Amino acid sequence: MRKKIVAGNWKMNKTAGEAVVLIGEILDLLKIRPVTEPLHRVVIAPPFIALTKATEILKGHPYVFLGAQNCYSKPKGAFTGEIAPAMLVDAGCEYVIIGHSERRSYFKENDTLLMEKVKIVMGNKLIPIFCCGELLSERETGKQYDIVRSQLGNTIFNLSREELQDVVIAYEPVWAIGTGVNATPEQAQDMHAFIRKLIAEKYDSTLADEMTLLYGGSCNAANAAELFSQPDVDGGLIGGASLIAKDFVEIIHAL
Ligand code: 13P
Repeated sequence: MRKKIVAGNWKMNKTAGEAVVLIGEILDLLKIRPVTEPLHRVVIAPPFIALTKATEILKGHPYVFLGAQNCYSKPKGAFTGEIAPAMLVDAGCEYVIIGHSERRSYFKENDTLLMEKVKIVMGNKLIPIFCCGELLSERETGKQYDIVRSQLGNTIFNLSREELQDVVIAYEPVWAIGTGVNATPEQAQDMHAFIRKLIAEKYDSTLADEMTLLYGGSCNAANAAELFSQPDVDGGLIGGASLIAKDFVEIIHAL
């Protein structure tokens, strides 16, 4: 059975102290109205500097887990400013976002590097939330399927079946990120169905059916329920709306 996930990507927002407050607010709201479905999960990915404080609060929580927004592709050494996957495990993380479009564009992360990151992340028993998605110009010229096919084909489709089954894929069309213009439920469903078809072709339909595919890009409390009601959309990767406890918890309950 597919897991359903709502993950909050806080990006470069919130100090460690502010993170403690926000996570506290989220947990308080979830105490009033808990998640009861056994296959539903919540992931919170604050900045690195907040991870150790966040893990103290989340430790032992039955369905809210800690994630990181990135990591480096090497286990340790002279890589000034970088964070190793083992450090994230030590800090209490279970998930890591890899290949976010902001990493691809601002930090020039390419498929080769992203594949190295996925490999080392999985070697450390962390779950990658692997992002893909096309630019506006690519959608406008009908290239969205080719782009997503190549982003996945050059990276996670090189994993074995056993490895891939532990990966979470997030489809985040770049034109929808932080713009207030979300993909319509039909556009999200269409791409998710396409990704599932690619998995079925490369691996098999059982795996395609079992994998968790998240949608990200201007997903909020008002549109989450309709997006998540699509048969191939198993939750969301949430940016801006994950910074407001009430909105984030509403999105969680839209699963
Ligand atoms: P927004 O929800 O702010 O559009 O961001 C989406 C995103 O990039 C999540 O990773």
